[in-house]
Amino acid sequence: MSNFFTVKKKIKSFDKIISVDGDKSLSIRWVLISSLASGTSEAKNLLMSEDVLASIKVIKKLGIKVKLNKKLCKIYGQGISGYKYKKNLSLNAENSGTLGRLLLGLIVNSPNIIKLTGDKSLSKRDFKRVTDPLSKFGANFKLGINNGLPLKIIGNKNLQPIFYKENRGSAQCKSSVIFAGMRANGETIIRAKKSRNHTELLCKYLNLQIKVKNKKNYDLIKVRKVKKIKKLNYNIPSDISSAAFFIVLTILSKNSKITIRNVNINPSRIGVITILKKMGVKIIFKNQKIYKGEKIADIQVKSTSKLKSINCPDKLNSGTIDEFLILFLVAAKANGISYFKNLAELNQKESPRLKWASKILRLIGVKTILTKDSIKIFGNPNIKINKNIVIKDFLKDHRVFMTSVIAGLTFGGKWIIHDKDSIKTSFPSFLKIINNLNK
Ligand code: S3P
Repeated sequence: MSNFFTVKKKIKSFDKIISVDGDKSLSIRWVLISSLASGTSEAKNLLMSEDVLASIKVIKKLGIKVKLNKKLCKIYGQGISGYKYKKNLSLNAENSGTLGRLLLGLIVNSPNIIKLTGDKSLSKRDFKRVTDPLSKFGANFKLGINNGLPLKIIGNKNLQPIFYKENRGSAQCKSSVIFAGMRANGETIIRAKKSRNHTELLCKYLNLQIKVKNKKNYDLIKVRKVKKIKKLNYNIPSDISSAAFFIVLTILSKNSKITIRNVNINPSRIGVITILKKMGVKIIFKNQKIYKGEKIADIQVKSTSKLKSINCPDKLNSGTIDEFLILFLVAAKANGISYFKNLAELNQKESPRLKWASKILRLIGVKTILTKDSIKIFGNPNIKINKNIVIKDFLKDHRVFMTSVIAGLTFGGKWIIHDKDSIKTSFPSFLKIINNLNK
């Protein structure tokens, strides 16, 4: 089967209720935490994507039994010290930064050398951001070229607690250090710039030794050694990062309406909603509830013809980090110039996304001014495309693929978008849902 996708026409008007796939951040965290629990944990609606399957393969290699079918995943945890594996172990995080970085926090006490590998895209990404704080606990690392993968870790059984200032707003760095803190002798203190807080919420739900104080601009997290983790049954809600593609598809389509069921609207994840509201979009949360500390709701949105440009406050960056690419399409159709700043982190993702955003927008005739950490987008409310556009060589970045599909379906033109398989990383049902809306 060909591995590219073509868009030949704009999408027809729709009025539908849909569900998108399970939350990736929560799915990976559930797998990793359950692998250290005492007892069997069960998850429903686990995201069946390559990043999550890679997480399952990794814990299996660490000696943990897993049973998986479409409806249910069972992980047979053997306790906090229950990993059993041979010498010369090599673990593959494939395309997942979250898996690679969080995992290092869990194996930081391994007495044997463990090699961590990844695919071409992950191998280029920065791992020094986690090996620096993890070294302070007493672990040793040998990093790959340009601080990437493959790397080697030799852990330490006698880990010392650390004080760690997390300045990037990176939940991956914060979570990796929380996991390592759970294995250290004493109290680890983390002063973290605001970022998604799923790890903290799961630890609190499990009554682990963690205290969190939410300050205005940062969180103060204190972690102590954990002796036992109870089993964790979880019904994974849908991913706002996947929902965002359908929110934007609806906003930019004509006479359309959508409800997306049971989405995780954790306040640390909904920067995209805040920004869209500032741009003039009406978004409604229905059936709100709290599930194990996470906020869940159905999201309702309609087509919006009058879109305002935005000078985006950078305090929203961390809570929007995976949604900027798709959000930039809304800025492309807004009335006026939008400005997004302090976004160097966007070039540290599966592909250099700030650069890719600018490339796609220029291809569709929208002017941009790009620097290494900002983008100005000169919106055009009458945007129309009448040409052929080919999108390829984007390091198989799933979000570049999906953003390009949405651009074609809403702005027109004839698109050939390569590496269709990339959606398997985070949102395997993406094209199926598109096809159902377009029927
Ligand atoms: C994630 C954190 C974010 C995000 C990634 C998932 C997580 O990365 O981009 O897709 O689950 O912790 P950073 O923490 O590196 O910003």
